[in-house]
Amino acid sequence: MIYSSTENIFILYNMFFLDDEILNYSKKNTTKPEKVLLDLERETKYKILMPRMMSTPLMGSFLKTISKMINPKYILEIGTYTGYSAICLASGLKKGGHLHTIEINPELKKFCSKYFKQAELEEKITLHIGNALDVIPELNLKFDIIFIDADKKNYCNYYELALKKIRKGGYILIDNVLWSGKVIKEVEKNDIETLEIKKLNEKIQQDNRVENILVPLRDGIMICKVL
Ligand SMILES: C[S@@+](CC[C@H](N)C(=O)[O-])C[C@H]1O[C@@H](n2cnc3c(N)ncnc32)[C@H](O)[C@@H]1O
Repeated sequence: MIYSSTENIFILYNMFFLDDEILNYSKKNTTKPEKVLLDLERETKYKILMPRMMSTPLMGSFLKTISKMINPKYILEIGTYTGYSAICLASGLKKGGHLHTIEINPELKKFCSKYFKQAELEEKITLHIGNALDVIPELNLKFDIIFIDADKKNYCNYYELALKKIRKGGYILIDNVLWSGKVIKEVEKNDIETLEIKKLNEKIQQDNRVENILVPLRDGIMICKVL
């Protein structure tokens, strides 16, 4: 189909501006994050490298809502970064419940611990410093929610490990499955991360062990209910 230049401008406007307007409207009509999350967000942005890895407030609210709906006893998070999503997910834990989160970068430990304490969650969250591929097999628990948000090149490995650790009827959530829209473009052979994310999306879509929905929120979040 060929578009006139006015139509092209309109399409571009919709792609880049209307989406932002919609996003802002959604943010305006969503419960605001609590002070601890605002502080964590601010400090991450001025002290920590690559703050765009952190969940946005809207994604955080989404994770919080999902967790409160499931009301889990045990949550596993793969990829802590500065702890934003861990705090959001932990807010839905059952009384006596616990969240385990795994981060490979030891330099983030002090930062996360400070905020887990500030959120009064230090008794409910265990931060494991190490490679998730080594840590996950050692966790002797069945989880109600597993949130995958670490290195993309291992996404298929994390998904298979998660299936071993999730209880029947539990939920596996996987962040960044749209990868800034790269999943629908032609992919370079050496773009390992995009190739891996596409491989996982296709694998999940064929997988009769789960029922899934890809939610196009922010960078895309896949939700799999384990059958
Ligand atoms: C996108 S960030 C996580 C963001 C966080 N979940 C949030 O929403 O605020 C990904 C994190 O995974 C960590 N990571 C990367 N490879 C890892 C591995 N093999 N094991 C554990 N953590 C890893 C990175 O150091 C980084 O902090």
